[in-house]
Parts: sequence; structure tokens; C-alpha cells
Amino acid sequence: DLEQLILPTGTTLDRFIMRHQAHFPFATGELSQLLRDIALASKIVNREINRAGLANLSGAMGGQNVQGEDQQKLDAIANVRFIRALINGGEVCAIVSEEEEKVIDTGNWHGKYIVAIDPLDGSSNIDVNVAVGTIFSVYRRKTLIGTKPEMQDIMQKGTDQVAAGYILYGSSTMLVYTTGHGVNGFTYEPSLGEYYLSHPNILTPTMGKIYSCNEGSYNEFSPAVRKYVDYCRESGYSGRYIGSFVADFHRNLFKGGIYIYPSTSKAPNGKLRLLYECNPLAMLVEQAGGDATNGRQRILTIEPTDLHQRTPLFIGSEQMVSKAIRYIESET
Ligand code: AHG
Ligand code: MN
Ligand code: MN
Ligand code: MN
Repeated sequence: DLEQLILPTGTTLDRFIMRHQAHFPFATGELSQLLRDIALASKIVNREINRAGLANLSGAMGGQNVQGEDQQKLDAIANVRFIRALINGGEVCAIVSEEEEKVIDTGNWHGKYIVAIDPLDGSSNIDVNVAVGTIFSVYRRKTLIGTKPEMQDIMQKGTDQVAAGYILYGSSTMLVYTTGHGVNGFTYEPSLGEYYLSHPNILTPTMGKIYSCNEGSYNEFSPAVRKYVDYCRESGYSGRYIGSFVADFHRNLFKGGIYIYPSTSKAPNGKLRLLYECNPLAMLVEQAGGDATNGRQRILTIEPTDLHQRTPLFIGSEQMVSKAIRYIESET
């Protein structure tokens, strides 16, 4: 009836986090607080993205980031907002950000957690009103609490993540995350400033008919990857590529599909970064029953060696990823 249509009922993110924490008797609430801090920053960034054109927030900063990309104003703004929220929240002792060359020591040395973040994913889409996102990955520190965080706290395999998620600033703003016990999606109600549970226990279809890659680079793909893309075309699959990894990933998560950013002559290790793009979404997709590989091994088992290292990526429905791997294996 009308009542149902008007007000979002059900569980807010805060209530969900608290209930979820109840399953962990030893949890002392820091991870819950960390997730709340990320959600808070996302609400601020959401508002700035929605009004970018009005507040002169679109366009480039005029400088380049460590990736060699023209940093967009919203890249820088989102970066500052998430870093400030994490520093003020007190739970995080160190942060790796796509927009920061070096690790940020937050000074909260009693914080148990490390966060790796892509503050704004898909920044080439900002000024043209196409969906963008934020991706985050959470680790427990390995070194003694109260001491200065070290590189061994940062350089952890994806299997060591304690939480991972993203915010998609799309036709609606959604937060999707996992702490290793399934994937849940929350939709933001701006008029109330709350995220509500809208997609509980997300599972991705094991098979799909959507492939996502930048076909403009087709001629730079390896013969095996070209053969797999040809196979997708011959199978009558739909090509869907937004240019925002979070948006492409989210659509494929619900509909089934595969996203590929392989090695190309311009980007021999692919373009997507391991720590704050591939690992978090690899954890999410595995929790949802999908797969993520670099063509030779599970993304989550890659031993990081550099903050901003890139990796080729094949991620999505399990049967589609295994098919792509068969093409690659038949080549080597
Ligand atoms: P970011 O905006 O955080 O740098 O990430 C952009 C990434 C990813 O979001 C997207 O899928 C990919 O770059 C698009 O790359 P191409 O333009 O080379 O296809
Ligand atoms: Mn970038
Ligand atoms: Mn990105
Ligand atoms: Mn980014």
C-alpha cells in the first residue's frame, strides 16, 4: 500500500552493523565504527558529486597524481574527505590511497586497522554525469598496537582482508560490502541521510551474457584474450563497458557477466591497481560466488610488492572467468 511506497522501512546500515557485530562476541566494535566512518564520508562525497556542476567542483585540478593521471577536483576532494573521516574516526593507523604517493600514517597508532582506498573510481566520467564510485579494503595491522605502522601492515595479500566494499554514486547511491560473511547492499535515502538494507545476501549468477572490456584496446590484447573476446561476440553476448570499474562490476554482480582489464601493450600489467581496486572487488565477488584472477592465479593470493602495483584482471561469473582462463591456458 501507499505506506510501503513512501517510507523506506527495514534495517539501517548502523543497525545492520550492530546486529552483525553481535555474532562476534569478542568484537570490540572498532571495525563497526570504521565502517560507520566510511559510510559517513560517502554521504558527504555523494552530496559533492551530485552538485559538482553547480559548485565548480568539476574539471581537473591541473596537476597529475602518482599514477600519472590528470587528477580531477573530485578525486582530490573525495580523497581528503575519506582520509579526514578515517583519521577522525581513530580506528585506522595507516591509509593507502590511489591519490597519495606514500602511505599515510594517521598517528592513530592504537588503531587496529589499515585501509586501502580508491576515493573516486571512474574519474574520467565525473564531468559527464556518468556513475562513479569509491572502493575500500580493510586489513588488521600485523605489528604491535601502539607502535608505528610498518610496510608489513600494508603489504598484505587479499586473502587477509577483514572487510571490503564500494559505494556506487549512480542513479541511486548504494553501499555494498562484506566482512567475509556474505555480501549485503544498502541504498541511500538522501532525505533521511540513512543507508537502508536493500539487497541482502547478494549472490552473483554463475553464468552471464555480458562482457565488459575496453574494445578500443582489442588490438593490444594478447591473442588468447582476443580469442576469448571473439568467443563472447560469437556467443551473442552483450558488450557493456561504462569506464567506471565499480559501475561495470555492480551491474555484472547482479546480472552475471565478466569484466576484463588485461595486459595491453600500453599497460603490460593491466591498468587496475591491486591494493584498492582488484583485491576489494575480488573479495566481494568470491563472497558472492564469483571468481577473480589475473589469468594465472587468484587475485587474492597475489603477494603485493608495491603500493600502486597494477594487475591484469578477469572478474565476474565463475563459468565465464573459467572459460577465459581456458583460452589463456591454451595459449601458454
Ligand atoms: P580511476 O578513475 O580510479 O583511476 O579508475 C579508472 C579505471 C576503472 O574505473 C575503469 O574501468 C578503467 O579505469 C577505465 O580504463 P580505460 O579508460 O583504459 O578503459
Ligand atoms: Mn585515477
Ligand atoms: Mn579506480
Ligand atoms: Mn580513482
